Amino acid sequence: MKWSKYVKPYWKYFVLGPLCMIVEVLGEIIMPKLYSQILNVGVETHNVGYIAVTTLLMILTALLMMGGGVGGAYFGAKAAVNFASDLRRDVYGKVQQFSFANIDKYSTGSLVTRLTNDITQLQNFVNMLLRMFLRAPGMLIGALFMAITMNPELARVLAVMIPVLLIVEFLVIRTGFPRFTVMQEKIDHLNSKIQESLTNIRVVKSFVREDFEQQKFRKANGELKDAALRALNVVIFMMPIMMLLMNFTSMAVVWFGGNQVIAGKMPVGDFSAFLTYITQILMSLMMLSMLFMNSSRALASSRRVKEVMLEKIDLSDENAARRDARVERGEIEFKNVSFRYYKNSENRVLADINLKIEAGQTVGIIGSTGCGKTTLVSMIPRLYDVDEGQVLVDGIDVKDYSLYNLREGVGMVLQKNVLFSGSIADNLRWGDENATEAQMAEAAQSAQADGFIRSFAEGYETELEQGGVNVSGGQKQRLCIARALLKHPKILILDDSTSAVDTATEASIRRAFRNELKDSTKLIIAQRISSVQEADVIIVMDEGTITGVGTHDELLVSNREYQEIYHSQMSGKEVAA
Ligand SMILES: Nc1ncnc2c1ncn2[C@@H]1O[C@H](COP(=O)(O)OP(=O)(O)OP(=O)(O)O)[C@@H](O)[C@H]1O
Ligand SMILES: [Mg+2]
Repeated sequence: MKWSKYVKPYWKYFVLGPLCMIVEVLGEIIMPKLYSQILNVGVETHNVGYIAVTTLLMILTALLMMGGGVGGAYFGAKAAVNFASDLRRDVYGKVQQFSFANIDKYSTGSLVTRLTNDITQLQNFVNMLLRMFLRAPGMLIGALFMAITMNPELARVLAVMIPVLLIVEFLVIRTGFPRFTVMQEKIDHLNSKIQESLTNIRVVKSFVREDFEQQKFRKANGELKDAALRALNVVIFMMPIMMLLMNFTSMAVVWFGGNQVIAGKMPVGDFSAFLTYITQILMSLMMLSMLFMNSSRALASSRRVKEVMLEKIDLSDENAARRDARVERGEIEFKNVSFRYYKNSENRVLADINLKIEAGQTVGIIGSTGCGKTTLVSMIPRLYDVDEGQVLVDGIDVKDYSLYNLREGVGMVLQKNVLFSGSIADNLRWGDENATEAQMAEAAQSAQADGFIRSFAEGYETELEQGGVNVSGGQKQRLCIARALLKHPKILILDDSTSAVDTATEASIRRAFRNELKDSTKLIIAQRISSVQEADVIIVMDEGTITGVGTHDELLVSNREYQEIYHSQMSGKEVAA
């Protein structure tokens, strides 16, 4: 990953910022000198003209310094904000390219933290870097140079002080660096905990697990507090120690310098300027150590951002051989398909599946929970890629379609479905951006959703809250079906999508499908036999394999699993022949 990509477009700001800071540093170095000149020359010789001119020079310098300071802050901020904004755009774009398998690897919380907190950390670091990385060494060198040229003898004090300071600094950084790294990790941990608990707050409440969640939170929060205090301790102790050293140095300068002044070997002006330079040297050393300290946090963040950016997208259509092919008929064929979610695990979730579905058929898929129904249909729009074998749609390997064309032709209502915040109409238009009101109503009618939508005061303009929490489970399912129908897909997959809909309404949906989606292939995963009973073919699955394919009547005779499911659902009811 190249960071330079985020610097290049804003190189002017990246150059101008530090340049402005140099102007400020030059001012800081010159000021004490001018001041000492006023004392040494002007006051000594009672030369009012000289004092006036020098004062004017000082005012000019002060103005220049202000310009430099403002410019440095302005360009620094501009560079850092643009840098972060571009980076965020790219990381977000990268996450959008993630396949389902890629997404499985990261928690949502972790991705959010990376996109917000970590990138903000980098932004602050860039800003700080631009303002300090020339300023601190510039000040150090400038002040050192001035002090030494002004009074080499007195500057010997520095020969003692600087090594001591460097040792202290080294110790501070050595203890501070790992402590800040730990603190960063704890922040991350806390964020993930908060994210998980808040996104699932309804579940937490319904299981009355607030106490448990609070406990988890307290633990993470406590750990962060300890880590932060440990890290801050370094800063807390550093300051007074540095001040002490500074005071010692000043006293040494006052003592030796004072003697020189008394002996007439040093002008008073130089004496006060010298003290200022000493302070500046110390300040710049402190700035440098802050910079190092912050770089440890930035380093941790950059690693985490990089990890996302370097994540290998394991599913793409780069090598699609039939890029312009579209799903025309909706015929599906599985050839020796095997799949596992964890590539190093033994258990195959799908094992040697062979299956052919004709265009326009209605296919029911039934089987115990966890047997691989969702996994099987996920192979068709390439939500996951097969490990072995091939999935063909209209005789073309799904890997040969462009992802856009393939997914355009396959409408899928996922088992875990969500709506987005926005109006019902906005949500339906996910299926077709340009759908007219009449088209939306038509799709909603087929999905048996039109009735309840119109019963809302605002109708199709009813606002849905995040995740669609203000509609019932069954209503949500019907909205999701309508959304998929608007795509007019050649292949429509409903994964347990009417589980929360009553049987009468479900029958109406089925009828609508039969009449209005004649040409589309319909795959219906269901738990209830009644949902698939009338299908052209029913596929019975068990532990990743297909144990039976046939009509309801055929399977009732030939397939033991099917018989079992049938009888378990019919027990207590009158068994229809
Ligand atoms: N994203 C995933 N990562 C890892 N394992 C998974 C993932 N999704 C499903 N599995 C596992 O794969 C197996 C098949 O799951 P699948 O969702 O296909 O079952 P299903 O037949 O749709 O079940 P249900 O009727 O409950 O929806 C299960 O053992 C499940 O634990
Ligand atoms: Mg499922």
